[in-house]
Amino acid sequence: MTEKQILLLPGPTPVPPQVALAMARPAINHRGPEFKALWEEVTEGLKDVFQTRSEVVILTASGTGGMEAAVANLISPGEKVLAVTIGAFGERFIQICRAFGVETEVLAFPYGRAADPEIVAERLAADKEHKIKAVLIQHNETSTGVLNDIQAISRARGNHPALLIVDSISGLIAADLPMDAWNIDVVIAGSQKAFMLPPGLTMLAVNDRAWQAAEKCSNHRFYLDIKKARNSGLKGQTPFTPGVSLLYGLQESLRLVKEETLVGSFARHALMRDMVRAGVRALGLKLLAEDEVASPAVTAVCVPEGMKPADIIAPLREKFGVVVAGGQGEVKDRVFRIGHLGYVSYSDILAGLAALENVLFDAGVPVERGAAVAAAGAVLGR
Ligand SMILES: Cc1ncc(COP(=O)(O)O)c(C=O)c1O
Repeated sequence: MTEKQILLLPGPTPVPPQVALAMARPAINHRGPEFKALWEEVTEGLKDVFQTRSEVVILTASGTGGMEAAVANLISPGEKVLAVTIGAFGERFIQICRAFGVETEVLAFPYGRAADPEIVAERLAADKEHKIKAVLIQHNETSTGVLNDIQAISRARGNHPALLIVDSISGLIAADLPMDAWNIDVVIAGSQKAFMLPPGLTMLAVNDRAWQAAEKCSNHRFYLDIKKARNSGLKGQTPFTPGVSLLYGLQESLRLVKEETLVGSFARHALMRDMVRAGVRALGLKLLAEDEVASPAVTAVCVPEGMKPADIIAPLREKFGVVVAGGQGEVKDRVFRIGHLGYVSYSDILAGLAALENVLFDAGVPVERGAAVAAAGAVLGR
């Protein structure tokens, strides 16, 4: 039976049946009162998830659209940003900035490591004339499975007025990111991650300082105009036809998050991370990230000597229906990635590890069958 799949991807993540059902509702007029009520409920609900009282904008686009919207609406051509990168999605921010004529100073840390707040502080302190208008960074770098310390990065600004723009597309709801308490100016999220929705929505929470920057920004934009989105949103509408089905799904997923609570969600994701790490280590495989910076959403696992990621990914999918992701960027040929994000349960993790043991055993890797499941079970039971 190959149809049944266990998605252990860092996105798109499994969609709960309640959410899928909500998305099957009949069409409504997106300029009518039902839509207004839906819109008001989801935009208010999102504020809780972003832990902010700032305005949240929802755009019908994938996460990259949210990243592009942040750059296009907040940074003018010729202005400078500091792009702090620890992997492939940080590199995407650089590409977007360059496409929009933004001068980009890059501060790159090696794949598998987190950004060092002290080095960020040094760079900003050296910018005496305050030419750097924003610091761009990932909360959770999905390509390496590393979580940045955003609170420390925010503090690293000291008196420097640069905006802090955080891509938390794969981090939000899986790891704590209290936007207001940590003084973050913009947080970007995406629907197909811990929101447990299909791809297609990106959400940006934008604080007052960032709205002021948006007022002055002269960069090109049309569809991804966050001011237009905010102004329509205040009337319970969107400037263009919204992804209504996804918004119904969002309404339901926000209810599920509320039921679990954010704290409960962070704890579940952290426990799944620890189970995966213990299980993988019990099979003698190496992890790309150190424990201290390990992501609660995704784990990058180094493939054993002499193997390629596809040697593991293909049999996991074909024989067991367990779907994991390949590597990206610099570590593309060295790692595969196990997602433990969104609508994933402890038993999904145990099943995925059991399948991994079998795949490695069949490939002649000296593993002890049962070792990964036992190690993960011990974490779960502690
Ligand atoms: C951290 C991060 N940033 C940006 C993106 C890009 O989002 P999308 O693929 O939805 O455009 C992703 C998607 O995996 C991501 O994980």
